[in-house]
Amino acid sequence: MNIFILTGSGVSADSGLRTFRDEENGIWMGECIKDVACSDSFETNPELFNKFYNGLREAVDEHAPNPAHYAIADYINKTKNNVMLVTQNVDNYHEIASGGKHKVRKMHGSLYKMVCVKCGNCYEVGSGYCHQMTSACEDCGEVGSIRTNIVCFGENVHYQEEINKFLYKDECGNRLDYFIAIGTSGVVYPAAGFVKRAHFNSTKVYINLDMKDASHIYKHKITGRAAETVPVFFEKLFNEHG
Ligand code: OAD
Repeated sequence: MNIFILTGSGVSADSGLRTFRDEENGIWMGECIKDVACSDSFETNPELFNKFYNGLREAVDEHAPNPAHYAIADYINKTKNNVMLVTQNVDNYHEIASGGKHKVRKMHGSLYKMVCVKCGNCYEVGSGYCHQMTSACEDCGEVGSIRTNIVCFGENVHYQEEINKFLYKDECGNRLDYFIAIGTSGVVYPAAGFVKRAHFNSTKVYINLDMKDASHIYKHKITGRAAETVPVFFEKLFNEHG
């Protein structure tokens, strides 16, 4: 079977990270998207941009993956099925949970990758990293041109082509069997449109804290906290389909 898993910030909420649109504590309730998450935000106010992503990285470092991340990693480890795991999240919890063994397609980039906007030089950073705007690019020597390599609104997401292919049929022509979305409001494109591109015969499952957002598109719905629902779901999937 071919299984596509899409996760959003709700999968990391039980780790203690904030989601984006939670009415009480969502990141976008206190921060303006255009100031820190648009394609011109870095150019307009690099210090604010840098401070914002340093803050997100610090929060990720202070917390840890939860049972939902471990259940997904455990399932991918033991199943014979062909799984593509795509996350909109810029934290590194899927990677930590899998011990770095699985390919996680981070379509919105990563807090642990930096890029020089002048020469395109990309490099990885570890936990505890705090970016200083005064650092010079090791490649081109420019000072103040390095930013966290996350995808801003107006920029292309990563892995789009691979994802599009897998949503319908894999490279051998086998069709998608399961589309599973976990902890995402389904309002940000292109991820919000994946479910509509998924093969029409695939089983579409939505696992989320509540059903107020994207649930109408899915036939199978599981309501509750990811840390509780996701382990139960993947155990059942494994028992039924290996
Ligand atoms: P949202 O904040 O839009 O949605 C998070 C979803 O998770 C909501 O539907 C919540 O109900 C649900 N949720 C909250 N706590 C949960 C829990 N404990 N268990 C299960 N579900 C829970 O976040 P995303 O859908 O991830 O992109 O947002 C998508 C993109 O919008 C992000 O990647 C980011 C943001 O702007 C960029 O910045 C480009």
